[in-house]
Amino acid sequence: MKKARLMIDRYFVTGEVDKRIYGSFIEHLGRAVYQGIYQPKSPFADEQGFRKDVIGLVRELGVPVVRYPGGNFVSGYHWEDGVGPKENRPARLDLAWRVIESNQFGLNEFMDWARKAGTAPMMAVNLGTRGPEDAKNLVEYCNIPKGSLYSDLRRSHGYQEPHNIKLWCLGNEMDGPWQMGHKTAAEYGRIAAEAGRIMRMVDPDIELVACGSSGLTMDTFGYWEDQVLSECYDQVDYLSLHQYYGNREDNSADFLGSTASMDRFIRSVVAICDSVRAKKRKSKKICLSFDEWNVWYHSNEEDKKIPAWTSAPHQLEDVYNFEDALLVAGMMITLLRHADRVKIACLAQLVNVIAPIMTSDEGAWKQTIYYPFALISRYGRGQVLDTLVDAPRYECSHGDVSCLDAVFVMDEEEGLTLFAVNKDLAEDMELTCDLRQFPGFRVKEHFVLAHPDLKAVNTREHPDTVAPRAGTGANIADGRLTAVLGAKSFHVIRLEKAGCAPKHA
Ligand code: AHR
Repeated sequence: MKKARLMIDRYFVTGEVDKRIYGSFIEHLGRAVYQGIYQPKSPFADEQGFRKDVIGLVRELGVPVVRYPGGNFVSGYHWEDGVGPKENRPARLDLAWRVIESNQFGLNEFMDWARKAGTAPMMAVNLGTRGPEDAKNLVEYCNIPKGSLYSDLRRSHGYQEPHNIKLWCLGNEMDGPWQMGHKTAAEYGRIAAEAGRIMRMVDPDIELVACGSSGLTMDTFGYWEDQVLSECYDQVDYLSLHQYYGNREDNSADFLGSTASMDRFIRSVVAICDSVRAKKRKSKKICLSFDEWNVWYHSNEEDKKIPAWTSAPHQLEDVYNFEDALLVAGMMITLLRHADRVKIACLAQLVNVIAPIMTSDEGAWKQTIYYPFALISRYGRGQVLDTLVDAPRYECSHGDVSCLDAVFVMDEEEGLTLFAVNKDLAEDMELTCDLRQFPGFRVKEHFVLAHPDLKAVNTREHPDTVAPRAGTGANIADGRLTAVLGAKSFHVIRLEKAGCAPKHA
């Protein structure tokens, strides 16, 4: 059996978990909106056409913020098309995904849905085919109470109170040649600075996210971040990162090693933010918004067969397996390990499109990746402890990587939760951790996500093929935690002080 050791100190805190790292994303893409969250003719729909079964699953998942309306879609979007009487809304070509957008669902419907789903909006503006003027009008429509053209327009649409949207993305993936209106770093940096400045003239309390690179492998990575921030450092609060992984070569060890690459990506972007900060002699720090991350590759070939100009096709409908769930757990652990700088993150996406939740006319179900997300979002609140991992390592295309992804989070009630993935595909791992700084602690609960088949999937008929079960064998004796992590498994081990009464019974 392999052996691993974790080391923590209760006073060595990486950072406070910002709950917005458990965000997700709804784009006008495939069946995310239409048939996903909105399907007026479904027996599951409420009076506004929102699917109640999906709302239930979103609430259970624990998603404090949802990015909207894109994605590539936003770079050609006219937000005005999606507000006001539905019968007057135009159907448009969506050039990003080559479909017809009916605009029957738009900004106000999204805000109503978000309220029902218990989440907050992260709104993106179109800096591809449009610019600061339209972005300014949109902030006015959303956040000014009344007495101006766009605020009164909102009121005429039945929304007397402002939406008060406080988190805004300045465009999407503007470095990508696939993006409508894509730009050089200098062009984008300038437009982001000006759009941000003007949007803040309307509402000084908004927070702004500038586009970083749309992936670590982009040729312009590094230069882009540096140039963009050099232009808009004073106007923005966050820089975005996007990254998707896929097991295209069917090499699971390599695939699970992707967390090392994600870790390097985050460290590199932090370094560039701080380098610009030093050059500009600023005290202000730029934090990170990892606002698109997930596994995405299963549907790539199928998607090439979709005919142009249909509506709500089955697009990007990855069916996730067990190894994808392990990687999602590892990616979330990686985000937590950077809690000092990663303040926002969005699992891309939420429903039907590369998503933890799937729907059909018969119902909604949880994909494998739903479970690690729900567990970590639920129990990963509080302070991240600097968690040193001493575990066996292996070589793969991501470099020399650890067999163990792990992090401890200490919650408000001073309970401790360990999240850990044993990436070894063959061997169990005996884990130990000195917990003498936590006298009287015992194991409260232990969840395990494990399956003998890395390719096992969940379906509507069998939604629990891959699902958490109770773990056994984790124990604290003489101030030492010991646990056996089975080969290829994810663990949530909750620890509490013995005799501690729950605060919220
Ligand atoms: O999430 C799917 C797409 O991936 C988004 O529209 C785009 O931003 C990214 O390339």
